[in-house]
Order: sequence, then C-alpha cells, then structure tokens
Amino acid sequence: MALVDMGDMLRHAHRNRYAVGAFDLVGLDFLEGLMAAAERCRSPIILSLAESHFGYFDFELVMPAVVAAARRAAVPVAIHLDHGESLESAVRGIRLGCNGVMVDASQAPLAENIHRTREVVDMAHACGIPVEGELGYVPGVEGEDAERHPGEVVYTSVEEARTYVEQTGVDFLAVSVGTVHGRMRGEPRLDFDRLRAIDAALGLPLVIHGGTGLADEQFRRLIAAGVAKINYYTALADAAGARIRANAGDGGGSYTELTRGVREAVAAEAERCMRLWGSAGRADALRAACAAWQPVEHVILYNTTGLDDAGARDMMAEGRRVLGAIPGVRRVATGTAVAEDARYRHCWLVTFTHPAVIDSYREHPAHRDFADHRFRPVAGDRVSIDYRLNEEGEPD
Ligand code: 13P
Repeated sequence: MALVDMGDMLRHAHRNRYAVGAFDLVGLDFLEGLMAAAERCRSPIILSLAESHFGYFDFELVMPAVVAAARRAAVPVAIHLDHGESLESAVRGIRLGCNGVMVDASQAPLAENIHRTREVVDMAHACGIPVEGELGYVPGVEGEDAERHPGEVVYTSVEEARTYVEQTGVDFLAVSVGTVHGRMRGEPRLDFDRLRAIDAALGLPLVIHGGTGLADEQFRRLIAAGVAKINYYTALADAAGARIRANAGDGGGSYTELTRGVREAVAAEAERCMRLWGSAGRADALRAACAAWQPVEHVILYNTTGLDDAGARDMMAEGRRVLGAIPGVRRVATGTAVAEDARYRHCWLVTFTHPAVIDSYREHPAHRDFADHRFRPVAGDRVSIDYRLNEEGEPD
C-alpha cells in the first residue's frame, strides 16, 4: 500500500468522520512500534517528524528508514514534517522524503503568519505536496509537563481562519480550541461550538495538536466536529519511559535490557488511539480513495562537445549541488558510461518527489541558469525522458 497522497488521505478521513493519527517519532523503536500498530489494526498512519525534536535524532539519517518503512507497509502511510519553522525546513523535509509539511508561524502576528505560510504553500504545491498551517496558539511542549510552559491558549477565530485559508491556500488547518501540548493535570476544556463553526466555514480537514491527555469522549466529539488529523506524542513517550523504568526496576542495566519492550509499549498506545479515532479497519477503503505517491526519475543521457572528461566531471559536481537544492528534487546522481563506446557517455538521474516537479523544476531559475549557460551549450547530443518509478514490493 505504501506511501499515499496526504491530501487525499485527510480528505477521506474528513468526509467519513474519522481521524488519522500523526504520531511524532523520535527513533527506530517508535517507528517500528507505530508501523506494527497500524498494520495490526489495518489503519492508515501519518509518520510525523517534529522539527522541535531534531536535537534527539539525526533527521537526515532517520528519514531513509522512515521512507523504507512506508514503502514496505501493508497500510497507507504519509510522512509529515511537524512544526516546520521555515521555508528552508520545508524544502529540506521534502528533499528527505516528507510528502506533507506543516509550517508553524502561529506565534507571529496574523499578517506575518499569512506571509510565511504562503511562501511555504507556493513552494510545496509546486512540488505536489499539501501544507498544514496553524492559526491560534496551542501552548506547551511535546513530551514535557504543560505546567512548565504556561502560555495562554489563543483560540482560533472563525473570521481569521477564513481569511488565513483564503490568503494562504493551506490544505489543512491546525486549530486552537483548548488543547495543550504535553502532559497536563486534569482534562482541558474544549470549545466544540467554535470548532464546528470553523469546520462549517472552511470545509477543510482540521488538525488537533496536543492530543495527549484528552478523554475518549472528547476525541469522539472533536472528530464529529471536523478533526481529521490528531497529533500525538507525549503519551507515546511516557509509555516508552514507563517500560524503561520497569526494566530498570527488574534489574536491567544494559541498553538492550532497558529498551526491551519499548516498541510494543509504543505500539499498544498507538493502536488504542487508532481504534478510538476510527481509523482502524480503514486501510483498504482509504487506499482506494488515494493517489499513490510515485516519484519521477528525470533521465538525461548525453555526450559533450568541447569538454573533456575532467571538464564534464566539474560540470556534474556543480549540477549535483545546484540542482539538488531545487525544491522537490530528492536526489541528483550523475554517471559516466562503463563501456567506452556507449551511445551516450554521460547521464543525469534526477529524482523528483512528484510529477508536479517536472514543470516547477524546468522553470526554476537555478535550473534555467545551469541548463542555459553550463549544460546545453556543451551537450547538444542528448535525450531527456521523465519516468514514473515503481520499486520492488510496491504495487504497479
Ligand atoms: P502531545 O505531545 O500533547 O500529544 O502533542 C503532540 C503534538 O501536537 C505534536 O505536534
């Protein structure tokens, strides 16, 4: 089933009044536990990576594992950058394999929030990638006691939400209706009327941050009022922490003794949520409603004139750097034929995250400049073809 378009995924959830969990992961134990939970109860899942957690793991090293887990999954998966802080973060997340991004400028004044969100939407939509914005303010910090970060909730206003969505073009909106990130004492008081009014005004999948600590009935009411994505982390981290403490109490001392069972602790809590939020058992119906996420390989085979192999190597190194930074490009590889008498001596293999990148890459100023001044003048003899990719284990 593998990776699917996150826009299709959340529109299906919104239409059918269930919510997909966006679980923040901070390492491989979390990743494996989350995938086990989703497969056990046939649920779609969003694997979420929060920029605020990048101090705990190497984003660049973890992402290939996340992409591999999504590819081999028996349920539909999307990969999301959570609380992206800047345009550059969003470009990087997409390059590493996220197929949904959040831009969080919610602490800035409305006009600035709109401006920063719009920049990310323009870039991401040109890469075929949906964007979540946030309006209002959900205080607290994931994984910590909410009381230690006692900011005031700023509730999302219906009128501002309408303006924000019109002016930014976001695909999903994270709203503030009384939840708080992190561990809190007591149940938060949620403003369901406000949520219903926002849903009626926008008709977009809505997102709740700060899922930990809500009562079962609160989740049901949030989903009935238009919430299609629930962000969840602290309870997973606490379940993992409790497992480690129990292992220590049983005399475990080594890393492997202490972390034994962490995956299952994460899986059990995630599975509980999937059943409660109504995503369990939806994998097949959702898959049928979603476009598969299929990268494109932009292949160019060419010969050079007026440039020896050393000159070609310099040009290719520059191209890997310049073209690899264009939004939507996942990888740039260059090659030189093994056989001396190959019809084409060199190649570019440029992987785009989505077919939309074929056009946005062609028009990007960095590509135009490189192609017009560096490449085309020396590579008149060439063929260029874009291929949709299928990899082993994925459906055709
Ligand atoms: P909790 O840590 O409160 O579950 O919130 C997670 C979250 O909102 C991540 O964006």
